[in-house]
Amino acid sequence: MVLGANGGVGSTLVQLARHAGITVIGTASARHHDTVRELGATPVDYRDPDVYRRIRELAPHGVDAVFDHVGGAGLKESWRLLRRRGVLVSYGTAATKDEDGNSRLPVLKLFAWLTLWNILPNGRAAHFYNFWAGKRRRPDAFRARLREDLTQVLTLLADGVLTAQVAAEFPLDDAAAALALAESRTVAGKVVIVP
Ligand SMILES: NC(=O)c1ccc[n+]([C@@H]2O[C@H](COP(=O)([O-])OP(=O)(O)OC[C@H]3O[C@@H](n4cnc5c(N)ncnc54)[C@H](OP(=O)(O)O)[C@@H]3O)[C@@H](O)[C@H]2O)c1
Repeated sequence: MVLGANGGVGSTLVQLARHAGITVIGTASARHHDTVRELGATPVDYRDPDVYRRIRELAPHGVDAVFDHVGGAGLKESWRLLRRRGVLVSYGTAATKDEDGNSRLPVLKLFAWLTLWNILPNGRAAHFYNFWAGKRRRPDAFRARLREDLTQVLTLLADGVLTAQVAAEFPLDDAAAALALAESRTVAGKVVIVP
């Protein structure tokens, strides 16, 4: 289960999973469902109030993994979708980014839930993935991990297994237009600024 399956990270996760022969359900807004289908996943609309019932219809016994960058109230639903031995990989809290107050609070709450779920004996696991983890404290290990991971991903890109989803390219002089298009959330894929 990949939330935001048409996004930059989500579309890469879907392609990696499909390459490994894994069945994928992906959330996206309805306008991006064709893109999600083309990537090889079954799309569901995250704006549909019945989205979790729809996912359960598609995976009645639960799913093996959920990749969740949204957090907020939906995090518990992501956790509940897991079957035994399933893994929740949280990597963001997009749902709370515009909330008033201390911006660290939603992140602390998220870590508290992930820790609690891991402590309780429930046969499932929850992790937070941070691309930049260890950059300052363990720079050598960080660089080694980055080299290993990116070599694998970029090799798959060079081999044509992965395709970068590029919605549009803008020259640096048009950065404002590029940002406006990216923030409009109407395009599928990344808006690239070329120096
Ligand atoms: N922890 C890390 O190491 C790490 C690394 C990279 C990125 N991130 C985080 O990951 C997130 C995604 O990054 P990205 O580059 O892939 O962004 P992106 O290309 O803008 O994609 C965002 C995706 O989220 C979907 N989305 C928005 N609101 C949603 C909701 N309420 N429920 C489900 N899906 C929703 C969008 O769908 P529609 O377009 O259909 O609305 C889109 O597919 C960001 O929050 C970023 O900060 C974390």
